[in-house]
Amino acid sequence: MPLFAVSARLPQPALDLLEAAGEVRVADGGPLTRPELLELVAGADVVLSQLGDRIDDEVLAAAGPGLRCVCNVAVGYDNVDLEAAARRGVAVTNTPGVLDDATADLTLGLILAATRRLGEGERLIRSGRSWAWGMDFMLGRDLRGKLLGVVGLGAIGARVAARARAFGMRVAYNNRGEAPAAVTEPLEAERLELDELLTAADVLTLHCPLTEQTRHLIGAPELAAMKPTAVLVNTARGPVVDEAALAAALRAGEIAAAGLDVYEDEPRVHPDLLELENAVLVPHLGSATVETRTAMADLAARNALAAARGEPLPTPVTS
Ligand code: DGY
Repeated sequence: MPLFAVSARLPQPALDLLEAAGEVRVADGGPLTRPELLELVAGADVVLSQLGDRIDDEVLAAAGPGLRCVCNVAVGYDNVDLEAAARRGVAVTNTPGVLDDATADLTLGLILAATRRLGEGERLIRSGRSWAWGMDFMLGRDLRGKLLGVVGLGAIGARVAARARAFGMRVAYNNRGEAPAAVTEPLEAERLELDELLTAADVLTLHCPLTEQTRHLIGAPELAAMKPTAVLVNTARGPVVDEAALAAALRAGEIAAAGLDVYEDEPRVHPDLLELENAVLVPHLGSATVETRTAMADLAARNALAAARGEPLPTPVTS
């Protein structure tokens, strides 16, 4: 009987799938400490991990030689050391596709919240301070006619762009190469170099994976190149943005506002950001809907079952 080590309680349908096929060891409670994670994985055939679990060579070694697969319950897999996994002959899977719409919805929420100052307005009402409607009271900016700059026009980026088109925005993007015409044509999206996108975008939204190339992709020089009226939104991974530089740029008015779902050192948020009215901050909610989390867990469980049975993996990162 295979042993499935699950680092956080998953929706019951996914656990039912695993329980029907083997022994399931599930961690209860919040994120695991390092010793708890090392203990949980010992002897596992398959580990089902969360994006906050650092799955490195030490964890793979702690699992032991029977480990066949790490199934990350996330589309991002920057928490998994792919080279170490490959060296040990351990496959890695993720959960692409099932969270694209939820993440795109949340991204649009942040774009609207940042451009229309929703967080600031909510805080004002709750503070009990007096306010009155006025011609120049709490003005934001329209989206219609503005340029959405998408860094990483993949599955999520394209869904954000489609939603932005419904708000009357134009779309440009930066990928390493040209995105497929089937994606760009309906969006009428033009590829720009990153420096061109930075200066042209009214809203810059990040959807690239975190890699050594994208770490601090947006730092002080990039923020300085943006329009003073521009908004930056990050629902990808925190370290893609230099948070200290972002806080300084927001404070200095180098850009107008930011909407962040992810942070450099989660769950810690740079203290300077907490003081800024023009930063909309939410706690990594991109995929946080009942339907999407259920689908993510189901996909991870189906990967785990396939790995345990030696069948082709539904969504491999490496196999
Ligand atoms: C992912 O799956 O990588 C997302 O960040 C989860 O919200």
